[in-house]
Amino acid sequence: MEELLYEGKAKRIYATDDEQVVRVQYKDSATAYNGEKKAEIVGKGRLNNEITSLLFLKLREAGIQSHFIEKISGNEQLVKRVEIIPLEVVVRNVAAGSFSKRLGVEEGKQLPRSIVEFYLKDDSLGDPLITDEHVDVLELATKEEVAELKAAALKINDVLSGFFAEIGVTLIDFKLEFGKDAEGKILLADEISPDTCRLWDMETQQKLDKDVFRRDLGNLTDAYETILTRLGGQMHV
Ligand code: C5P
Repeated sequence: MEELLYEGKAKRIYATDDEQVVRVQYKDSATAYNGEKKAEIVGKGRLNNEITSLLFLKLREAGIQSHFIEKISGNEQLVKRVEIIPLEVVVRNVAAGSFSKRLGVEEGKQLPRSIVEFYLKDDSLGDPLITDEHVDVLELATKEEVAELKAAALKINDVLSGFFAEIGVTLIDFKLEFGKDAEGKILLADEISPDTCRLWDMETQQKLDKDVFRRDLGNLTDAYETILTRLGGQMHV
């Protein structure tokens, strides 16, 4: 059996025969509020793997490279090995979540332009919001890399917002992670799924993302299945 390299809240990462390639296995675990709320939701791992794989393929077609290589089973994919930059890069188009709470802005208010925020990826600190100055003095990324991350995040936002609009869904906000490959090139990594995006139905404003779990709004797998089906993916058989 291949060596388990890392186990996170939602995924396990295994080594493969190829030093430059790792296998990602999506788990059925759901967590929120930095692990305070937990549940096992059968089928969630498969849904996030399918959705992430579809989105990384669509991004590739749009000229945006990521660590994604291929989906190899219902809940697994092969990805290029990268060293994750310990930043959560959040893009917001519409006020929601921590932005609304912190700044007192009503959820659902369209922002005059899309913004990029950085959070320090550190569970023990609760992933705090940090400024470009913090990123610089903590040497998490150079100023040039910060500019590159922001530009990449906004480009990904344009492409993803377009995909979702085509299927009647508003991309409210989302979180990205980036990593460096063996040559030091920055690549989009981790996942893009309803676990990491806020996705609202354009007509009904129904939430089709992890807020269903966070806020006990109904059935999570129904919401994720809706996204997968609208993206053209396969329903579970
Ligand atoms: O909670 P907050 O409003 O800051 O989240 C912004 C976006 O980033 C949401 O789409 C949320 O799902 C995502 N996020 C994430 N992982 C985190 C924090 C936020 O995927 N640790």
